Amino acid sequence: MWKIGNIEINSRVVLAPMAGISNSAFRRIAKEMGCGLVYAEMVSDKAITYKNKKTIDMLQMTEDERPIAQQIFGSDVDSFVEAAKFIYENMKPDIIDINMGCPVPKVSIRAQAGSGLLKHPEKIKEIVSAVVKSVPIPVTVKIRSGWDKDSINAVEVAKICEEAGASAITVHGRTRSQGYSGKVDLDIIKKVKESVSIPVIGNGDVVDIESAKKMLDYTGVDAIMIGRGSLGNPWIFKELNEYFEKGIIIPKPTPQERIDMIFHHMDYLKEIKSEKIVCLELRTHIAYYIKGLKDASFYKNKIYQTKSINDIILLLNEYRKELGD
Ligand SMILES: Cc1cc2nc3c(=O)[nH]c(=O)nc-3n(C[C@H](O)[C@H](O)[C@H](O)COP(=O)(O)O)c2cc1C
Repeated sequence: MWKIGNIEINSRVVLAPMAGISNSAFRRIAKEMGCGLVYAEMVSDKAITYKNKKTIDMLQMTEDERPIAQQIFGSDVDSFVEAAKFIYENMKPDIIDINMGCPVPKVSIRAQAGSGLLKHPEKIKEIVSAVVKSVPIPVTVKIRSGWDKDSINAVEVAKICEEAGASAITVHGRTRSQGYSGKVDLDIIKKVKESVSIPVIGNGDVVDIESAKKMLDYTGVDAIMIGRGSLGNPWIFKELNEYFEKGIIIPKPTPQERIDMIFHHMDYLKEIKSEKIVCLELRTHIAYYIKGLKDASFYKNKIYQTKSINDIILLLNEYRKELGD
């Protein structure tokens, strides 16, 4: 058990915010698999202040996802505050998270939001303290190691965030220029952990027991955040919990369990999305769920041609038969 502010969290493994992925359906599955804390995908502060319907719809969350953090990206103090208040009052998440890691040019360069904020430490202080004052729940910040290799400033930024009242920091050990390439820098995560007294969540390239153990042991972080390693593999939360809590290595999911999980994921998606969107989103997830199984690319291609949920169900049932017991 560890805590962010007064929020108790019962596993050291956390789900990363992932745009287009970490919606309520995926988060519920992660929680069922033992994930300690889920981060909802980022929403734009401006879009919230304009009451953009698509953005407001993205805020959907269910009780079984708690504790949950809602992430916001932006660059303007007033919109950040207005968005945080709106989200707190309407959705009552347990935590508000501020995005200072998004590398997408539209966000980081044009809007000076996401990782663009890393270049403006004075603005970071202003934003974090204003958001902290505006809501009665913990505020966390997710950062990268820096803008580029010549301006690695995660330690400085983390200290500013702590001083401004942030309750925890997540560090993705890559610079903005690296995007998702290269290897995660565990040294910078370790340095941040040694520099602040609020909890630090280490993030980047955790995909299995070995990488999780390395992140925890080497950096000393309070928790680890998993993004891509959970795609098609929500079992990773259970695998890591069992290993860290009991020293047990659980068996990998069987092909049948993988197909069952797709149906389960589909049911949750159907609760929140239109049929068209369910089909589109599910395609991506199915590709991950079946990766490495017999005839996976054949079925992946067939699933990409489907136009209805019913077509997907028929194909999955056919695939399930082919995979046998
Ligand atoms: C598809 C995708 C969408 C992402 N969206 C967000 C986001 O909305 N907010 C954010 O802070 N990070 C986002 N990230 C970054 C992840 O949260 C995480 O920091 C990064 O993937 C490194 O962790 P990993 O190696 O475990 O995937 C996204 C990553 C991916 C792959």
